Amino acid sequence: MTITNLPPSLIPTLPGEYYTDAEVFAQEQERVFEAMWFCVARAAELDRPGAFRTYQVGRESVLISRARDGSVKAFLNICRHRGARLCTQESGEVKRAFRCPYHAWTYGLDGKLVAAPNLTSMPDIDRTEYGLINVHVREWLGYVWVCLADEPPSFEADVQGAIVERLGDVESIERYGIDDLKVGRRITYDVKANWKLVIENFMECYHCATIHPELTEVLPEFADGYAAQYYVGHGAEFGDEVQGFTVDGSEGLDRIPGVAEDQDRRYYAITVRPQVFINLVPDHVIFHRMYPMAPDRTVVECDWLYLPHVVESGKDVERSVELFHRVNQQDFDACERTQPAMSSKAYADGGVLVPSEHHIGEFHTWLQNKLEVRPTH
Ligand code: FES
Ligand code: FE
Repeated sequence: MTITNLPPSLIPTLPGEYYTDAEVFAQEQERVFEAMWFCVARAAELDRPGAFRTYQVGRESVLISRARDGSVKAFLNICRHRGARLCTQESGEVKRAFRCPYHAWTYGLDGKLVAAPNLTSMPDIDRTEYGLINVHVREWLGYVWVCLADEPPSFEADVQGAIVERLGDVESIERYGIDDLKVGRRITYDVKANWKLVIENFMECYHCATIHPELTEVLPEFADGYAAQYYVGHGAEFGDEVQGFTVDGSEGLDRIPGVAEDQDRRYYAITVRPQVFINLVPDHVIFHRMYPMAPDRTVVECDWLYLPHVVESGKDVERSVELFHRVNQQDFDACERTQPAMSSKAYADGGVLVPSEHHIGEFHTWLQNKLEVRPTH
């Protein structure tokens, strides 16, 4: 059964199964998260050679590390001998090399096989051929982005293009100097909902008037539920009485010097498919990365970034963190409230999108074109 005779102001959503089905999720892992650029670490966290972090990207564990020449490397976190997971910790530091905990094959920070017990008895072994498998890596906006595809899509078109689509040009985001900002706070949310509910929520502001009382105080135009800036890109203006992007509208912190006059007192929200959301305000940047873990579980890591001297001086960033932390909680509560309905017969055919959500329909089409298996219910 499908919804028929919808009035033109309404368009259908995806059916509920898309948010629960293991096969759909497996396809998304393969064709979306392993195929596209995926944002992981803050580059500054890999602060010295040997510092490493591990991430789940699609079905793979990826090891990101700082090499001796200062570059960031990314590898599949798999020993080439018999396949043991090389690093089991989420983060850490090795002195000179990664040593497999199974039979002690050892890899340099550049991924090359450098030692193995009794290696001299295997003179014919090619240490490069048995090195760790490289993953494509880029650094941009102070973050490390990886791509597991053999031939990665264009970073300029896919990642930077998303910014251009929203802001008009790449310079508009580069003015915020995000590379040089410092993490003032990081909060990780474990959301019991499918990743698409999280992204769909981020893409619309129809819900803002209902669930975001603090945000609509600061950005009054969000209260009408249309949030034109989500598709026009001019940014949402702070209310007249509002001094800063804080939970009570009180004064913010030092303004990022590169922010242009026409970007001041404005809030911009950008979605970079498939898993990054960026919010820009004059004194800080809020940078979300989403890690889909299961059809009904998504981990969201959110950084609040400020000018380095603001963080180093110990200035209180609490009121600005509190504003978007509440917004995040309100949003993720809504996603968790929606997830159970995805397996209800009430939602077997999906729901509808109202006009201010129509761009979510474009996201659904984009996704469906990537998937081979499409539930028909
Ligand atoms: Fe890693 Fe054997 S599996 S050394
Ligand atoms: Fe919201």
